[in-house]
Amino acid sequence: MPWIIDADPGIDDAAAIITCLRLGCDVVALSIVHGNSPLENTLLNALRLKELIGSAVPVYAGCPRAILEPRRNAGEIHGQDGMGDLQWEPVQSKAEAKHAVDMIIEQSHLHPGNLSILAVGPLTNLAVALVKDSTLAQRIKELVLMGGTSGARGNTTIVGEFNFAADPEAAAIVLEAGIPITLVPWETCLENLVTLEQLQTGGTEALENPVAETFLAMTAELLDRTENVLGYRGFLLCDLLAAALVMDPLVVTEAVDVFAAVETNGTYGRGLTAIDYAKLSGEQPNVNLVLGVDTDRVAALLRQALIA
Ligand code: BDR
Ligand code: CA
Repeated sequence: MPWIIDADPGIDDAAAIITCLRLGCDVVALSIVHGNSPLENTLLNALRLKELIGSAVPVYAGCPRAILEPRRNAGEIHGQDGMGDLQWEPVQSKAEAKHAVDMIIEQSHLHPGNLSILAVGPLTNLAVALVKDSTLAQRIKELVLMGGTSGARGNTTIVGEFNFAADPEAAAIVLEAGIPITLVPWETCLENLVTLEQLQTGGTEALENPVAETFLAMTAELLDRTENVLGYRGFLLCDLLAAALVMDPLVVTEAVDVFAAVETNGTYGRGLTAIDYAKLSGEQPNVNLVLGVDTDRVAALLRQALIA
């Protein structure tokens, strides 16, 4: 089944991309968006990842900014270059000439009703594609998204998770599009860290290879920071959880079908994920909200991808 990965690499985006590509997911393209770092960095990082794992996947540059929201980045988490500020060889490969938005529409015509999208950054590319082609939603099979919250616990604004807060209008357009959505919210990520011990189950020797060593270098500071902030140690890799459930649906241990919308106004509420748990709106569920995951399974997938 063909997939597009839409991402803003990003350390956890890197884990998601490596996992899908190395475990044989049929990824037809990487669609890159602004987010954790400006687009020039997230695009460069996507090309670095492609070369690190020797993948031939085509990479497309998408939108450099949100629809209305002033630029937000997450350099304090992902580093100034957006991917842990490691030393990289200069990249040899280039992004494709076509814009990511046009590529998404084109792929939807090549695989009508069969194309799915894993989107783990601000949803600008997808929203602009939906606006540009009002028939696009009918041709997309499924969206798996990392974004939003399940209980209004923000990580960027008081109530806003980064991907939704970085482009609330885009998130609203995507949630309203009528495409089946599986959503991994921030709280699920916070509660489901993968530990180093889980990753090392099966031995450390196999992790002595360039891909695993790059991943471990990329995440070293993140491990420390997570421990300082949360008080316990582990890999807080949100986008990896979404990728893992694409590769193995049994990763999900708890989920609920709900109607969810994104608030685009308000003094404090912009970017909030409004969720109708109590079924008060009369609206049909549009989101399968993932509330629990099996971190042993996630760790096993990541390990497999790092030693493949
Ligand atoms: C999300 O924001 C980004 O920093 C991560 O890559 C992830 O997609 C978590 O809120
Ligand atoms: Ca991301």
